[in-house]
Amino acid sequence: MSLLEQIESVKQAAVTELQSAEELPALERTKGAFLGAGGRFTALMKEMGSISKEERPAAGKAMNAAKLEIESALVQRRETLELKAALPAEPADFTLPGRRRRVGRLHPLSQVTDDIVRAFRRLGFAVADGPEIEDEYHCFDALNTPADHPARDAQDTFFVDAAGRPLLRTHTSSVQIRVMEKMPPPIRIIVPGRVYRRDNADATHNPTFHQIEGLYVDRNVTVGDLKGTVEAVFRDLLGSDVRLRFRPHYFSYTEPSLEIDFTNALVKKLGKDWLEIAGCGMVHPKVFETVGYDPEVWSGWAFGFGIERIAMLRYGITDIRLFYENDVRFLRQF
Ligand code: DAH
Repeated sequence: MSLLEQIESVKQAAVTELQSAEELPALERTKGAFLGAGGRFTALMKEMGSISKEERPAAGKAMNAAKLEIESALVQRRETLELKAALPAEPADFTLPGRRRRVGRLHPLSQVTDDIVRAFRRLGFAVADGPEIEDEYHCFDALNTPADHPARDAQDTFFVDAAGRPLLRTHTSSVQIRVMEKMPPPIRIIVPGRVYRRDNADATHNPTFHQIEGLYVDRNVTVGDLKGTVEAVFRDLLGSDVRLRFRPHYFSYTEPSLEIDFTNALVKKLGKDWLEIAGCGMVHPKVFETVGYDPEVWSGWAFGFGIERIAMLRYGITDIRLFYENDVRFLRQF
């Protein structure tokens, strides 16, 4: 075999072996076997001294090119193996349970809200959201609540002193409008959220509290669907002895409108027969017209409950202000 052929064959062997090294020590051993003092490639370089002058330039050139190729294969493989060595043997499983003891807990209002949301999700409702700083249009006008309606009174509403008369939403019903403006029917949503009213703080009122709004729009929706849905959710939340009563009422954005009263053993224990718990009704055709739904085609119902009311019933709490004081002696009990 000529020297040139030997260079080619040793180079091939070196590159193949380097590329197949599985670990860094093996790679370094291979490097030594070819490029080390007694290495196979080094041995070829030593032969340069014993070849004729005429052969030397071509052999030198081939030798240099082969060495470059071997070194580049070495560097490449080294990078790959170093990266492999830096990675954990098995990828981390972030779904494994943590070892740390759980610190703290959810606020009782968050727990009740989560339970209500879960109960509605089981029935196919999605959660929607909207701004707490609203405009009069979404809070009142679009809900068929005219400018002279007492609900807008400065006694009831916090207006923000800024252009466009923004206000703190007095109910989550504003989100009904925002959702219907954005998408066509059918709609099945609930909206948990914070609302604001100039109620004086006493044992059962606070200037800010939480509501859950519900809206269901489709073809041929009936009051029967409303009653069935609300009853199923309250039984789920507060026990199977729950009874509901629907009384006629007035809301400008529903027709007919109803109020829902609730009773169970807890209510009896509080010395009452019924507790008012929610407002609801069939969505008023004017509301549908305002958002561009055809009231001849679509029908729907809506409701709004107070979350604090439900939490107070569930836990037998008689003073709403306890929820906002953040006294750990109170919070630790949930
Ligand atoms: N927005 C009402 C309130 O804050 C509650 C309510 C009544 C919501 C009837 C509704 C509804 O969606 O249809 O007291």
